[in-house]
Amino acid sequence: MTVGQERLTRRMARGVEFLGSQVAIMCGAMSWVSERNLVAAMSNAGGFGLIACGAMTPELLDAEIAGTKALTDKPFGVNLITMHPQLFDLIEVCNRHQVSHIVLAGGLPPAGSLDAIKANGAKLICFAPALSLAKKLVRSGVDALVAEGMEAGGHIGPVSTSVLAQEILPDIASQVPVFVAGGIGRGEAIAGYLDMGAAGVQLGTRFVCATESIAHPNFKKAFIRGSARDAVASVQIDPRLPVIPVRALKNASTELFTAKQREVAQALDEGKLAMMEAQLQIEHYWAGALRRAVIDGDVENGSLMAGQSVGMVTKEEPLVDILATLMAEAAQALEKRAA
Ligand SMILES: Cc1cc2nc3c(=O)[nH]c(=O)nc-3n(C[C@H](O)[C@H](O)[C@H](O)COP(=O)(O)O)c2cc1C
Repeated sequence: MTVGQERLTRRMARGVEFLGSQVAIMCGAMSWVSERNLVAAMSNAGGFGLIACGAMTPELLDAEIAGTKALTDKPFGVNLITMHPQLFDLIEVCNRHQVSHIVLAGGLPPAGSLDAIKANGAKLICFAPALSLAKKLVRSGVDALVAEGMEAGGHIGPVSTSVLAQEILPDIASQVPVFVAGGIGRGEAIAGYLDMGAAGVQLGTRFVCATESIAHPNFKKAFIRGSARDAVASVQIDPRLPVIPVRALKNASTELFTAKQREVAQALDEGKLAMMEAQLQIEHYWAGALRRAVIDGDVENGSLMAGQSVGMVTKEEPLVDILATLMAEAAQALEKRAA
């Protein structure tokens, strides 16, 4: 083992222990992309895969977990979205399968969900888009945090990864493991965040073009062609309708989303929709638009959710190679620290 590799192993030890994987790199859940094949490939390669439950019914999640278990005997987790109307049924499904790690995305854990998850011994991971929220989540008993900046693909918060890492790690890393996410495309950045106290990292965009990913070839081509500046955040057109921004590659769907917001805002004005329903409609829009691109390959009208690290995705390659490249880059970066 080189000095760099030895340092990397040491810096990842806490994350590895927490996840039960060989390396402290998670493949963030990506709706439609993170199904059994990608999740099992990630965990089999020594990383940590996460099933994206998204809008799945409890029956579908049940089948997806069983399908993943048939492909890997390594640990993996499940990502649930807090606003899912059947959240507690989904937690029950995870408990039945003894899923070891659950990630709750989409805001603070709703009342009772934390206990329902932890009662069965599963570890709960939440997203911390600000230091104040990170503190609150730690106090409420979450086991680990993902600090995700706005460079990331998909739904994003307002603060960049570099600033969030500086705000959250010094305060929180001594209390619970913190995984940094958003904009990571190479191992040098992983080494940097580990040096700052992160237990590990979470990447999404970088794994979309893994050979094992079932994303449509058109979706993968768009990622291979795309550069950082093409991955833009959606714009809120109506202040009365707060929408969480989504980062995606620019295409015709960017305008379709503007039209959708107008339609929903008008329904709100006319009293045909309550705010909760309006926001749920927006989320359903995204789920449908992402499916169109990922599954059907409609890369014009579908949503190409991607992070700014998309410019560092240059080819389709086996997941084990992507992970090996990231680890080698991180080890080399740490090796140089000796000089
Ligand atoms: C296509 C796509 C779909 C995503 N879907 C979800 C999702 O359903 N739930 C979630 O919590 N995060 C989702 N994310 C975010 C990822 O899990 C991960 O945190 C993010 O991609 C990390 O930033 P990066 O893209 O810069 O690597 C998605 C990201 C992408 C690119």
